Amino acid sequence: MNIALLGHGNMGLEIERLVRASGTHTVSVIGMEEPSGAIDTAGLKNAEVVIDFTSPEIVMNDIRTVAKEGKNLVVGTTGWQEHLPEVEKIVRESGIGLIYGQNFSIGANIFFRAVAHATKLFSAFKDYDVYGLEIHHAGKKDSPSGTALRTAQEILQNSSTKKILTTGKLDRKVRPEELHFASVRGGVNPGFHEVVFDSPADAVTISHSAHNREGFAQGAILAAEFIQGKKGLFTFDDVMKAHGIK
Ligand SMILES: NC(=O)c1ccc[n+]([C@@H]2O[C@H](COP(=O)([O-])OP(=O)(O)OC[C@H]3O[C@@H](n4cnc5c(N)ncnc54)[C@H](OP(=O)(O)O)[C@@H]3O)[C@@H](O)[C@H]2O)c1
Repeated sequence: MNIALLGHGNMGLEIERLVRASGTHTVSVIGMEEPSGAIDTAGLKNAEVVIDFTSPEIVMNDIRTVAKEGKNLVVGTTGWQEHLPEVEKIVRESGIGLIYGQNFSIGANIFFRAVAHATKLFSAFKDYDVYGLEIHHAGKKDSPSGTALRTAQEILQNSSTKKILTTGKLDRKVRPEELHFASVRGGVNPGFHEVVFDSPADAVTISHSAHNREGFAQGAILAAEFIQGKKGLFTFDDVMKAHGIK
């Protein structure tokens, strides 16, 4: 498969390294103008699947341009969820296949399921409260992380008490129905997410810690293989389902 990369930063470089090392696919990097993000569409012509790891400011323009060229797309960029209805429309009208995910690493996707299951179990006991924390490198442009939002969604969907997500600083007591999920930015951490179920007697912590960007990049390549030749909108959950995990 010919893979074309939009974005040649931390993630683009890691995907390029893995694809070249495996020799299973070919990979090229698409030129983009700074800061407009205007794409060199000539570079898209031979691509079978485009993988986007850019930034929230330009990702919608990327999706429109790639769809106009009729190419299937993996969107790893986060921080654009409010545009999902528009993306659904673009995918429907252009007839392309598009897959997106807040976190493409297998470990994080198992972490989401572990958090959902633990939330259900702890919900049966009123003594346990729950909160979350995420840490990312100083260069990350969106906050809270897409992974934190997805983790919070798993808690809100499965908790008997938590109904609202609060991500900012609190100058007051947290309300029982609020899930507080805090973000810290600094250093070089590629991604740490932690959920704590806390009670007067004990605490249970579930965390996902990325050692580097390899897991995200491997997942992006799996997503590219999945979306090749398909039409419609998919998420990384569809890749997990294809591997027998609900
Ligand atoms: N889904 C997942 O599993 C996952 C995992 C990790 C990261 N992410 C997300 O992926 C995205 C990229 O992460 P990253 O760490 O690779 O970021 P990065 O190192 O900053 O790389 C971003 C790339 O996009 C280019 N770019 C961004 N804005 C641009 C603009 N306005 N004009 C032209 N080029 C532009 C950058 O070019 P320059 O370097 O020239 O600016 C760079 O090549 C982020 O949204 C991050 O949250 C998702």
